[in-house]
Amino acid sequence: MFYKTTDPHGLKFNPLKALISPRPIGWISTVSTDGVENLAPYSFFNGVSDSPPMVMFCPFGTHAEGGDKDSLKNVHETGEFVCNMADWNLREEMNVSASSTARSVDEFDLAGLERAPSELVKPSRVKDSPAHFECRHVQTVTLPSTKPGGVNSLVIGEVIGIHIDERIIKDGLIDMAAYRPIARLGYFDYTVVDEVFTMPRPGKADPDTPQVMVKT
Ligand SMILES: Cc1cc2nc3c(=O)[nH]c(=O)nc-3n(C[C@H](O)[C@H](O)[C@H](O)COP(=O)(O)O)c2cc1C
Repeated sequence: MFYKTTDPHGLKFNPLKALISPRPIGWISTVSTDGVENLAPYSFFNGVSDSPPMVMFCPFGTHAEGGDKDSLKNVHETGEFVCNMADWNLREEMNVSASSTARSVDEFDLAGLERAPSELVKPSRVKDSPAHFECRHVQTVTLPSTKPGGVNSLVIGEVIGIHIDERIIKDGLIDMAAYRPIARLGYFDYTVVDEVFTMPRPGKADPDTPQVMVKT
């Protein structure tokens, strides 16, 4: 089938998110200038560069009370956020933290999550997350929206510190079998990484060595 995205697709639900899958989940913690902590999952999330390391997440729509979603508002007010990675064990808490709540609600409390202090930024970390990226805001790109009054933002942050639970490090590598990150599919579906295959790249001795040019 083919459809123009300005026309009806004729399927039960919009297939876009099911097709762009799996998407890693950036579980973003921020703090407001009033000191209220906030936590929310964003699956329009990814790494965008490695030198310096940068990540992005995309808040779209508005907060139920009007104005920007809390994560976006807090990043703009304070210039900081933490991206907590969500694993299989934290799936229910991650989902609860997506609840549409009053701005005064702290989703760490709502989801019954323990916090841990960050090293370089103010927002707390989700203590039981297997990895955390402490981020400083770099830039927000305001994207067009076709929804009346809609807001589409792309928030980019530089990762200035990374925490990794020793439990997921084995022989100097991240052990995916111990990490078990969850990712978003379409609809209400998720996946968990529990299968890995390895495929060395031609001309690369190890995953961090620059590509060697092969003379022919
Ligand atoms: C797995 C998952 C992924 C989500 N991804 C996004 C996303 O990429 N962008 C977005 O605007 N909302 C996304 N949401 C919805 C937000 O988490 C939700 O609107 C939340 O209340 C926003 O909170 P905030 O106002 O505290 O930032 C997602 C929800 C879930 C459960």
